[in-house]
Amino acid sequence: MKIRPLRKNEQAPYDLLLLSDDTRESIDKNIHNGEVFVAEIAEKIIAAFILKAEEEYTVEIKNIAVMEGLQGNGVGTMLLGYIKEIAGIRGLNKLLVGTCDQCFKEMEFYKKSGFEIFNVRKNFFVDNYKDPIYENGIQIRDMVMLSVDLAKKSSA
Ligand SMILES: CC(C)(COP(=O)(O)OP(=O)(O)OC[C@H]1O[C@@H](n2cnc3c(N)ncnc32)[C@H](O)[C@@H]1OP(=O)(O)O)[C@@H](O)C(=O)NCCC(=O)NCCS
Repeated sequence: MKIRPLRKNEQAPYDLLLLSDDTRESIDKNIHNGEVFVAEIAEKIIAAFILKAEEEYTVEIKNIAVMEGLQGNGVGTMLLGYIKEIAGIRGLNKLLVGTCDQCFKEMEFYKKSGFEIFNVRKNFFVDNYKDPIYENGIQIRDMVMLSVDLAKKSSA
């Protein structure tokens, strides 16, 4: 598997990015404010994510997604490993990610790579999306924020 930045003039893989977000509008906002990366196997794009610089030394992971048929095989964990690696090379010391209050599988996914919950953005999905969003039949409201401290990890 090869992970690389999206090339200039290359179309963003919306089919994949939409697995992690409900609206193209919010994906476009993340593309505009961040860097899109794709993972490919035999030149076929099978996963993607966006990195958005936050405060100094911190980057937020947005719209991480693996093609449906390949989920649950360790690809996402490899992406998180790659993100940690390039964050380290860039001298960053913290990664952030947000997920929904009903996204328990995703929370496990991040926690298994060392992320810990540090904050809850109350009513984020109510205030920032026009229509209600449901996950497993329950309306999602809050964004659960997780982070991993890279400096702490490498010295441990
Ligand atoms: C979330 C996502 C990126 C994880 O990538 P992945 O390649 O499927 O994850 P991995 O195979 O590396 O799994 C790591 C851990 O995540 C959890 N997990 C991942 N997929 C799971 C599934 N289908 N069911 C239950 N747990 C799952 C498990 O805890 C798993 O650990 P395990 O393999 O020891 O059981 C991927 O499932 C995905 O694209 N989902 C749709 C888009 C999305 O929701 N993005 C995240 C937005 S916050």
